[in-house]
Amino acid sequence: MIEYDKDAIVYPYITDFIRAGIPPHSGILKELEEEAAREEIPVVQPETARLLSVLCEIKRPKHVLEVGCAIGYSALLMAQKLDKDGSILTLEWDAETAERARRNIERAGESSRITVRCCDAKEAVPALTGEYDLIFLDGPKAHYIHMLNDCIRLLTKGGILIADNVLYKGMTADDEHVIRRKITIVKRLRHFIAAQMQRGELECVLLPLGDGVTVAVKK
Ligand SMILES: C[S@@+](CC[C@H](N)C(=O)[O-])C[C@H]1O[C@@H](n2cnc3c(N)ncnc32)[C@H](O)[C@@H]1O
Repeated sequence: MIEYDKDAIVYPYITDFIRAGIPPHSGILKELEEEAAREEIPVVQPETARLLSVLCEIKRPKHVLEVGCAIGYSALLMAQKLDKDGSILTLEWDAETAERARRNIERAGESSRITVRCCDAKEAVPALTGEYDLIFLDGPKAHYIHMLNDCIRLLTKGGILIADNVLYKGMTADDEHVIRRKITIVKRLRHFIAAQMQRGELECVLLPLGDGVTVAVKK
């Protein structure tokens, strides 16, 4: 019988196979992957990173909004596929982490295109104006649902909304897997997925990749 990680949403041998086929990063992305692994900083999983790269390659976004910057890994990943006059605004509420991200972004020579704003995204997102071709939600999972209307407002037509961790170690999919203290977050993630599926302005798919990812396009 296959032993599998209780947090995995697909069999680990499938994940191992997918990961084995992904070309490794070099330079600062590789360094940040190692740093994140060493310090247990939650950056996107390799297959989710690959999905982000593919979607950015298709879209070549001009303006990107990211909620949840951590040390700048996914922002730097997306910057590789940014339109040459493009920009990324990434939000991070922890001041030390935001400062660390700024240093990494500076080191990568991307400070002119990536802005790290230290703020609470719950308050900052409703106040944002402008247009974004791609929005990546990877911050406070319990509040994705509260940011949905603003994300739709901020997205351009044809813009892409990507949200990570929506299956939340499988808990979102099945009551039996839900830990008591996670009930609220799980309920809100279910609501967030259903709302994206039902909103007439969006075409959305839920992918069992990484920790579960939704990809929605604004029609
Ligand atoms: C999963 S990590 C982001 C990883 C990053 N996107 C990457 O893959 O490189 C989530 C980050 O969101 C931040 N965060 C959580 N709640 C937030 C909030 N309300 N506003 C802004 N940032 C928040 C956390 O401090 C954490 O650094």
